[in-house]
Amino acid sequence: MDLPEIADRWPATDPAHGSVTLRAFRPDDAGMARDLSRDPYVPATGTLPLNATPAQAQQWIRRQQTRHTEGAGFSFAFVDTTEGHCAGFTGLWVRELHAGRAQIGFGIAPPFRGRRLAADALRALTSFAWTLPELHRTELYIEPWNTASIRTAERAGYLHEGLLRSHQEISGRRRDMLVYSAVRP
Ligand SMILES: CC(C)(COP(=O)(O)OP(=O)(O)OC[C@H]1O[C@@H](n2cnc3c(N)ncnc32)[C@H](O)[C@@H]1OP(=O)(O)O)[C@@H](O)C(=O)NCCC(=O)NCCS
Repeated sequence: MDLPEIADRWPATDPAHGSVTLRAFRPDDAGMARDLSRDPYVPATGTLPLNATPAQAQQWIRRQQTRHTEGAGFSFAFVDTTEGHCAGFTGLWVRELHAGRAQIGFGIAPPFRGRRLAADALRALTSFAWTLPELHRTELYIEPWNTASIRTAERAGYLHEGLLRSHQEISGRRRDMLVYSAVRP
């Protein structure tokens, strides 16, 4: 299926909520990307190599910068506005935009965890999602052991809908996934 045309849909104003602002990735986010790559779960669920070198971190950043021009979705870096540093990423993936649905992913570099920043990022991204008139539903797929992600979803107002058994393979093993969603207010 063709990817949607979203190259001109990047937000004019950076989405923000609470302590977090979402913005386009920049080359100087490479330090955050390298920190992120040291948590094996992040490389297992995306394209960032484990223990990324500076060059691999830059390549990952360049891939994020072109996600919306190629139609895959919107990949944001997010900044902790109280401290001023880039703490993580969040993406709105819109391959199912024609059906009114999108999926969301997020991650925080280990040094910046423990302050519930992901919930603010998720709220900011979800508000941005509703500026796309075609979208009616945003979804999170979370492994049942991932309590930090479950708490993030609930704190951001997402509702638990069920368990998809053996939904996808991660690191060579089929995984169950909890589904959480938000629907257009
Ligand atoms: C999920 C993630 C983004 C959350 O980061 P964060 O915003 O810093 O989250 P916090 O550490 O502040 O924790 C949020 C909540 O989870 C709880 N929590 C965190 N780690 C936990 C653990 N190991 N066990 C139980 N609860 C935990 C916290 O107590 C907090 O709960 P509360 O809001 O009820 O007090 C981060 O852990 C991460 O990047 N993980 C790896 C990538 C990932 O799993 N992404 C999501 C894929 S669906």
